[in-house]
Amino acid sequence: MASLTVRQLDERIKKRLRLRAARNGRSVEDEVRTILREAAEPSGNEAAEPPAPPSATSARRAHPAPAAGVKRVLLIVGGGIAAYKSLDLIRRLKERGLAVRCILTKAAEHFVTPLSAGAIVGERVFTDLFDAASEFDVGHIRLARDADLIVVAPATADLMAKMAGGHADDLATAVLLATNAKILLAPAMNPRMWSHKATQRNLAQLAADGVALVGPNEGEMAEAGERGLGRMAEPLEIAAAVERLLAGAVQTLKGKRVLITSGPTHEPIDPVRYIANRSSGKQGHAIAAAASAAGAEVVLVSGPVNLPDPHGVSVVHVETARDMLQAVERALPADVAIFAAAVADWRVANAGEQKIKKKPGQRTPDLPLIENPDILATIAQRKAQRPELVIGFAAETENVAANAKDKLARKGCDWILANDVSPQTGIMGGDRNTIQLVTAAGIEAWPPQSKEDVAAMLIARIADRINGDKA
Ligand SMILES: Cc1cc2nc3c(=O)[nH]c(=O)nc-3n(C[C@H](O)[C@H](O)[C@H](O)COP(=O)(O)O)c2cc1C
Repeated sequence: MASLTVRQLDERIKKRLRLRAARNGRSVEDEVRTILREAAEPSGNEAAEPPAPPSATSARRAHPAPAAGVKRVLLIVGGGIAAYKSLDLIRRLKERGLAVRCILTKAAEHFVTPLSAGAIVGERVFTDLFDAASEFDVGHIRLARDADLIVVAPATADLMAKMAGGHADDLATAVLLATNAKILLAPAMNPRMWSHKATQRNLAQLAADGVALVGPNEGEMAEAGERGLGRMAEPLEIAAAVERLLAGAVQTLKGKRVLITSGPTHEPIDPVRYIANRSSGKQGHAIAAAASAAGAEVVLVSGPVNLPDPHGVSVVHVETARDMLQAVERALPADVAIFAAAVADWRVANAGEQKIKKKPGQRTPDLPLIENPDILATIAQRKAQRPELVIGFAAETENVAANAKDKLARKGCDWILANDVSPQTGIMGGDRNTIQLVTAAGIEAWPPQSKEDVAAMLIARIADRINGDKA
């Protein structure tokens, strides 16, 4: 067998390969392997043929074991209006070469039928905990153990509550309790159900239990005229999250220590008022989760955000820019440092020790500002303990690429991820991001995508760089 290394390829191909790999959340080597595997597979139109619906007898047959190396995904469909999208999700997962099994909850059967789901899966779907055929054949323990990843889509408020409480009174919840596999939830519900304290409490519990999340997104609800946070992530987004989680097992950053900052800083005016910005922390937290999934030891220094701490990450909570710098310096040494926090450039020179009072006839208070420490430049220009790779973010509202190039040179960091945070982009605080990666080699435009996908692309690029493909 001939062997080939990526370095032998010409620059243009290497660049396209890198972009493709990053887009798919893989290392460049994995991407090359995937391309070769696809090219070597037999051509023909078998894949295009729709799977035959399960016959009465085949419906009772055990699921044939997937070929060696094929990852197995168990999809649990909950009883929400978005259940119809799960049929498309099954197709998307199968397109990616994954073996899919499916459980419908009783409520899900009101939205999609076992027949339609079974026709797309290509085998029977599972519905009952007390099913004699299923118990002797593939009972709940077997379903739980046979999966590399369990996806719950749509994850209804009810299913999330049952999971958080450890219930096991139907097949779906019994499997979820009996599994050791990673679980990915794609919540879908009315925005008021989503923001309800009980759902948020359950969500925090599930995050603490290590359950991964994709979505929900903001947008139109099924109910006429309703809009808000609660729409299920699109099947393609869920499929990308599945690939990421399954690839996470590759542990491309094992043995590396990664330091990440996230969120805004709050700069006090007095004990009750502060200067802040609109950063939500979603991008920095997604990067921390992706780095941890890739096997890195992660320290996340977070400003005040409304997000749960990512699973498996050591989180230091801070308020001000000065606290953030101190926490960052304490967290060194690190192999990689990623500064995604929106650190306030200025703070009030003499923040009041007492609440500033409004008095009739008195002038409005003068609030002179002074500069905050520049955390990115401080770490990038360190002589001792400078991380091997220092990455900054540039949030710009105009001349994005030019300003980012200038920032790269000024700060002395290695890469800048530039994004346009003008209000019309919805990036600041939103779920999606459009990045331009600025390095000494030039500027690379990444496609618009979820912040989780940006995180996966970035981690794949970092892994390539620090594991040897320095190009
Ligand atoms: C038309 C209709 C649509 C529904 N859509 C949702 C939904 O999108 N999300 C949700 O959490 N519950 C929704 N529900 C409520 C769930 O169906 C109900 O809580 C059910 O018990 C959930 O069952 P599960 O735990 O099997 O998912 C809906 C109910 C109806 C009647």
